[in-house]
Amino acid sequence: MSVTVETAARKTPAAVIVAIDGPSGTGKSSTSKAVAAKLGLSYLDTGAQYRAITWWMISNGVDVQDAAAVANASAKPDIVSGTDPAAPTITVDGADASGPIRTQEVTAKVSAVSAVAEVRTRITELQREIAAAAEGGIVVEGRDIGTTVLPDADLKVFLTASPEARAARRSGELKGSQAAAGLAATRDALVKRDAADSSRKTSPLAKADDAVEVDTTELTLQQVIECVVTLVEEKRAAR
Ligand code: DC
Repeated sequence: MSVTVETAARKTPAAVIVAIDGPSGTGKSSTSKAVAAKLGLSYLDTGAQYRAITWWMISNGVDVQDAAAVANASAKPDIVSGTDPAAPTITVDGADASGPIRTQEVTAKVSAVSAVAEVRTRITELQREIAAAAEGGIVVEGRDIGTTVLPDADLKVFLTASPEARAARRSGELKGSQAAAGLAATRDALVKRDAADSSRKTSPLAKADDAVEVDTTELTLQQVIECVVTLVEEKRAAR
């Protein structure tokens, strides 16, 4: 009898697939990593994959505004994600990309690259392979995980927060000259990126109909983590 990797993975009793979506600055990464660590699940940051392919385009002289050029190059980089929530990693063609993918240049260009359909097809395939191979279950965070990448996820969470709260959290993460750019600039950049991510044609940032929406504006990170852990435990208990 042939068993697909996904079927085999879903047979492990504890295996659970959790999709966490939402715009930037809602605490998605911190929440997803902590929930995965607490429940012994793997963790995948899909934004890091889009950032990694963007970094490759920039490093290889591809004009990110030229969608055809980006599409043509989309199969070239070899992107590998390490899914340990305590130490997630990302490499591009074997080189550690965890630092370079967080630069302002990559942040400014990632929406254009991630809007290209060929890029999304390529990265979505990678994401599904990683989720299927995570036998103990996985927390996958992004923008289109519940709607497109893993529509059969056991639990879908959509995190939101006011633009002010999101900008304050993001500027708190920045250092040196980036922090000096200030809260207003951070808020404007973030709102602009969300608008681009929400309005693109191919799998935009969106809440799945069956996702649980959690507004984190007034919640501490600890409260958000506890809320999501409880939701996962409820799903497991209901099986
Ligand atoms: O979560 P992040 O800020 O690191 O994501 C970077 C960009 O990647 C974001 O602006 C939109 C894109 N992205 C996407 O299109 N789909 C995903 N599943 C995750 C991220």
